[in-house]
Amino acid sequence: MDKFAIEGGRPLEGVIQVSGAKNAALPVLAATLLTDQEVRLDRIPKVRDIRTMARLLKSLGADVASNSGGYAVRVTEVTSPEAPYELVKTMRASSLVLGPLVARCGEARVSLPGGCAIGARPINLHLAGLEKLGAEISQEHGYIRAHAPNGLAGAVIHFDRVTVTGTEDLMMAAALARGETIIENAAREPEVADLAALLGKMGAAIDGAGTSTIRIQGRSRLHGATHAIIPDRIEAGTFLIAGALTGNPLTIAGVDTRHLAALIDRMRQAGVDFSFPAEDRIEVRAGGRLRAVDLATREYPGFPTDMQAQFLAMMTQAEGESHITETIFENRFMHVSELLRMGADVVLEGNQATVRGKSRLSGAKVMASDLRASACLVIAALTARGETIIDRVYHIDRGYERIEEKLSNVGARIRRTK
Ligand code: EPZ
Repeated sequence: MDKFAIEGGRPLEGVIQVSGAKNAALPVLAATLLTDQEVRLDRIPKVRDIRTMARLLKSLGADVASNSGGYAVRVTEVTSPEAPYELVKTMRASSLVLGPLVARCGEARVSLPGGCAIGARPINLHLAGLEKLGAEISQEHGYIRAHAPNGLAGAVIHFDRVTVTGTEDLMMAAALARGETIIENAAREPEVADLAALLGKMGAAIDGAGTSTIRIQGRSRLHGATHAIIPDRIEAGTFLIAGALTGNPLTIAGVDTRHLAALIDRMRQAGVDFSFPAEDRIEVRAGGRLRAVDLATREYPGFPTDMQAQFLAMMTQAEGESHITETIFENRFMHVSELLRMGADVVLEGNQATVRGKSRLSGAKVMASDLRASACLVIAALTARGETIIDRVYHIDRGYERIEEKLSNVGARIRRTK
């Protein structure tokens, strides 16, 4: 198992280029199942979850060619509509093939994803939506089977709670359903709008993506397209927080600042100064005294749960008491016990963490538990005195492309060890 060894306390200076968004790449790769023609996707990040999705598509019958910037995918025919447990257990976003498969070939068998470190993460809302579109859903031997021998028919689907991949799954299924589908209380994340942009290029008729109500006019077939996905707002946010603690200054390039409004707003309240040298660049510098601010994670456009762990690391360096409430997942504070080992002062009560700063962090041996918790530990390690060893960095490889290279290029002392 790979580890990172990080020597903290060094100023970071220079430019980090963000990659394409992992959480946009996963649904657009699944969307290639909706046509028998070639779909070319650019700015796809080379991270583990994407390689897993490519393997899954190949097992379903896709030709997948990767090139420097991304993938060319062609699913001439779905040879096997089954997403096996061996793949799904390593990446729950495999549930994104459920809607496209049942829409394309009337049949889908997807292993139930099973538990996840940050919460139970059921897919009941995906399944209820597919039933509304006319699929028969059954469960046996740990697999979900969706069956629609007569195809899918448009319907009104109301989510009683916002689900990002649920919205994406059903938008893809509805694109090949007969008639109109309306999704109410839809997720508004930029990745949903990016998927809708690709589906539109493939011939789908979709209105309202990015708002709470999405209208889809089904088509009998979709055609090939070329699409470059949006930049990764969570990767960008992660490096912005690292820059707020160590930047001398640090510039993040290739970002869409519109997607970072809630994070930038909260960081400003904490005393972070930003400058915007270009439309797609943000510069951030350490040095100002940071103030503790309270935070509650929300669905987009609120403060993203995927930035909670990284923000909590920053609050250990702020003067005062910060109350951080996680409202999306039931168990997303596993980074806290590792931060305590580094000298942070954090108390957990239910879904709220109280962070008292400013603490002087010192390097320690710590363990990554999930993708964003590991990003939090990297940030803490860059700030701490001395050396930190982070174990199980395969978690970080799921969603951050070449992170040690990007950080080394701006002066961090980070190396990967076996
Ligand atoms: C997406 O996960 C992201 N993953 C997650 O990013 C992100 O944290 C999450 O949205 C919230 O923003 C991808 O886009 C691939 P949800 P998703 O369905 O779609 C409950 C990362 O770090 N729920 O919006 O699985 C669920 O348990 C990952 O890149 C149901 O109860 O999240 C959760 O509490 C982590 N039933 C809440 O809704 C359902 O059928 C939000 O989940 C679906 C969800």
